[in-house]
Amino acid sequence: MANSWYKQLLVMLVIGSGLICSMAAVSKTKTPPAPKDFVVKGDASKGKELFDANCALCHGSRGDGKGLGGRDLNPPPRNFTNAKDMQERSDWRLFRVITDGGEKNGLSSQMASYKNVLTEQNIKDIILHIRTFAKSEKPTAH
Ligand code: HEC
Repeated sequence: MANSWYKQLLVMLVIGSGLICSMAAVSKTKTPPAPKDFVVKGDASKGKELFDANCALCHGSRGDGKGLGGRDLNPPPRNFTNAKDMQERSDWRLFRVITDGGEKNGLSSQMASYKNVLTEQNIKDIILHIRTFAKSEKPTAH
């Protein structure tokens, strides 16, 4: 009897540590917290030009995720007109996904990294433009 109790404990320990490891693996793909000095300021109209040139193909020039190049993607490109979804995403989160690409942030690898294409300021300008698609309040996520 004592022996089987011990075995059960051992099994629980193995399952438990497996869970912890897989949680650690998931957290690696999550976006780290924003540095305190991170602010998005810039020029939304410049952002619109950049967005139309680089992103609209998939995300659509209206930001609804229905661009020609995005139609057949699974998962589909994010729909920036969905106010609820966008409120849940901080500017920092958007910044990281655009900079490092989807895969490093637990999303589809179809969303490429733009760090060799756009400057940090370009990306901030684009974020200001993206925020105009959903006519909503400020993001609730930080
Ligand atoms: C080849 C098509 C394609 C292009 C071009 C593209 N994206 Fe994406 N993007 C995607 C897809 C697909 C997703 C959804 C990934 C997922 O849900 O796993 C996505 C997701 C995103 C997200 C969502 C982040 C989140 O946390 O939900 C942002 C922000 C984004 N893209 C911004 C941009 C910007 C800005 C550009 C241009 C500089 C761009 N994308 C260009 C396909 C594209």
